[in-house]
Amino acid sequence: MWFQLSNDILRASQWQRGFCLVLAALLAACDGRQSALDPAGTGAESIATLFWWMCGGALLIWAAVMAITLYATQAHPEEHGIRSARWLILGGGVIFPVVVLTGLLIYGLMLMPQLSSSEDVSMRVEVSGEQWWWRVRYRTDEGEAIDLANEIRLPVGQRVAFSLTSPDVIHSFWIPSLGGKVDMIPGRTNQLVLEPTRTGSFRGACAEYCGTSHALMAFPVVVMETAAFDEWLAQQAQPAQEPESALQRQGQHAFLSNGCGACHRVRGTEADGTVGPDLTHVGSRLSLAAGILPADIDAFQRWIGHTGEIKPDVRMPTFGMLPNDQLTAMAHYLKGLE
Ligand code: CUA
Repeated sequence: MWFQLSNDILRASQWQRGFCLVLAALLAACDGRQSALDPAGTGAESIATLFWWMCGGALLIWAAVMAITLYATQAHPEEHGIRSARWLILGGGVIFPVVVLTGLLIYGLMLMPQLSSSEDVSMRVEVSGEQWWWRVRYRTDEGEAIDLANEIRLPVGQRVAFSLTSPDVIHSFWIPSLGGKVDMIPGRTNQLVLEPTRTGSFRGACAEYCGTSHALMAFPVVVMETAAFDEWLAQQAQPAQEPESALQRQGQHAFLSNGCGACHRVRGTEADGTVGPDLTHVGSRLSLAAGILPADIDAFQRWIGHTGEIKPDVRMPTFGMLPNDQLTAMAHYLKGLE
């Protein structure tokens, strides 16, 4: 008897431990740099509030349905006339859902203008969804374009309007910590306004299936103090740094002589392609290949030599046929483009 009891307790505590672990894992998923429930922007805050209201509503309705189910299993059929049954169906099945859903619809619609209103916008960033990376264009105060790729930096506390489009297939631009997601549709430009409320590093991703490497197009997002942001943008507007070491010079030569410049631009050199990402400051970026590789020399070399294996169906050809020392030199050259 005693053994039986202690076994039960043991089993219960194991079960509880398991439950706590699952709960901890679920809650851990709620914070972090890619969570809509750990908002760092005004848009994400509204969306999180809407989510919690909907959750609360769903819980209430679930509790009511459970209570009615319990009641139905206990009550005697003859206690109810046909009229009260009709009222129950009309009230619970028609009036209640209409009122609740209309309330939620109105609340949701009221949130929408603020998510795309360009009032008080201090800056505009153009982003195009490519297969499978992000073309990003900032502008200087004089309106001159600064082409970047696969990374977004924003000044804290300022409203930034994103113009979102795509040349071929539909993508969806989403930085869960900062705001809602908006589709990037060929032939149209959609607008999204984000206003980060705190500094930090976040992660954006493509939220619409767009082809083989859909899951391999992400981007780091950094929210900075305004002064640091201005400094970063001014630096990104500069032409590329000259190679400093002999290895980097060798890499630049390999880069230009193997035709990389037909697709990639390195401002200030003869490489002037616009098919692929602008590489003028690729060495200063926080990730490589659209958020999927670290931005170190090893990764650069691996990427150039194994492009198609790392990102299936990518448009950039694999340059694995080049001798290893050329790949190494190119990796050093690109990493040096800070
Ligand atoms: Cu781009 Cu999915």
